[in-house]
Amino acid sequence: MTDSVKSKNITWHHASITKDDRERLNGHRAVVLWFTGLSGSGKSTLAHAVEVALFEMGCRTYVLDGDNIRHGLNKDLGFSPEDREENIRRIGEVAHLFVEAGVIAMTAFISPYRADRDKARQIAGDGNFIEVYVKCNVETCEKRDVKGLYQKARAGLIPEFTGISAPYEEPLRPEIVVDTAAEPLETSAQKVLTYLREQGIIGIAD
Ligand code: ADX
Repeated sequence: MTDSVKSKNITWHHASITKDDRERLNGHRAVVLWFTGLSGSGKSTLAHAVEVALFEMGCRTYVLDGDNIRHGLNKDLGFSPEDREENIRRIGEVAHLFVEAGVIAMTAFISPYRADRDKARQIAGDGNFIEVYVKCNVETCEKRDVKGLYQKARAGLIPEFTGISAPYEEPLRPEIVVDTAAEPLETSAQKVLTYLREQGIIGIAD
């Protein structure tokens, strides 16, 4: 997939209402919380737990979830490195649109390749992108096997399965690390919320 723009004769239109305006109205900043980790590490569970807490505080939020997005927007994509790259590129763009709309966008995709995550960071703009490494060793993910996919992958029924027959590149400098094999969901969620408070992303209207 090329990074260049195919269309000619297109002009960027600047919105009258800016991201700053929307943030002021909402009383919080708009950012991407990018959850990355193995299948079964708890990305979606954590993203939704954080969303519930933020919603109760009156924040505008939305969770973009790997399995769901692959039923619609990205239903034409599989799990080859190229398709995963395109998956993450599109989600990076969508998350950016949510941020422009003043929303705290949370994404829960394995996003196994560092370069693809870095591209999503670039799309959002560095200060708008918070990488949350949902760490969990593969043995624990496999033991949980919530969807029964590790068993299928071990049996050779799913090719290129992350952590078994396809790579996962750990984040080098994530803003937040949680370890779901070692800590309860509540602790992981609190780590994320504390970071958002400390960075002045939430609580700016108080
Ligand atoms: S990503 O690698 O492109 O970021 P994404 O998060 O969208 O992956 O989708 C991962 C989900 O698809 C997993 O949680 C799992 O349910 C399912 N899945 C199906 N096949 C695979 C595979 N080969 N590798 C990883 N996950 C897979």
